[in-house]
Amino acid sequence: MKFLIINGVNLNLTGKRETGVYGVKTLEEINAEIGAFAKKNGDEVEFYQSNFEGALVEKLHEAFLQKTCDGILLNAGAFTHYSYALRDAIAAIDIPVVEVHMSNVHAREEFRKNSVLTEVCKGAVLGLGVGSYLAALVGLKAGLKE
Ligand code: DQA
Repeated sequence: MKFLIINGVNLNLTGKRETGVYGVKTLEEINAEIGAFAKKNGDEVEFYQSNFEGALVEKLHEAFLQKTCDGILLNAGAFTHYSYALRDAIAAIDIPVVEVHMSNVHAREEFRKNSVLTEVCKGAVLGLGVGSYLAALVGLKAGLKE
């Protein structure tokens, strides 16, 4: 199967920003780990990161219109908490999207406890660091086979 891994705003600084929360692995290292894990499972992955809401929306449209993948993992960063544009884009496409967070957003600031995306996502995985992406991949693949 083919999966698209989308990281949103500020995720390019992973490994360099708030390392106590997000760890010291860079996004490149995290993507390499996800890529190796997917390969071992016989899957293909494409990675995309942007700090721009519209670019993330367009990537979701592209996946839908060009049928580029079977499923999507989306860590939208702070857009998670207020982007109705991303929410509508997820609702518009027929590809299952899993919301991913490295940190446990429920154990942090009040504003992080609300996601405007979860309702339109297939599921959500949070709080497991890089493991959130790996668990989301496993779960999404299992769900797609059902
Ligand atoms: C995050 C959690 C968000 O609240 C935050 O804005 C991020 C990262 C996470 O992976 O834990 O940028 O999505």
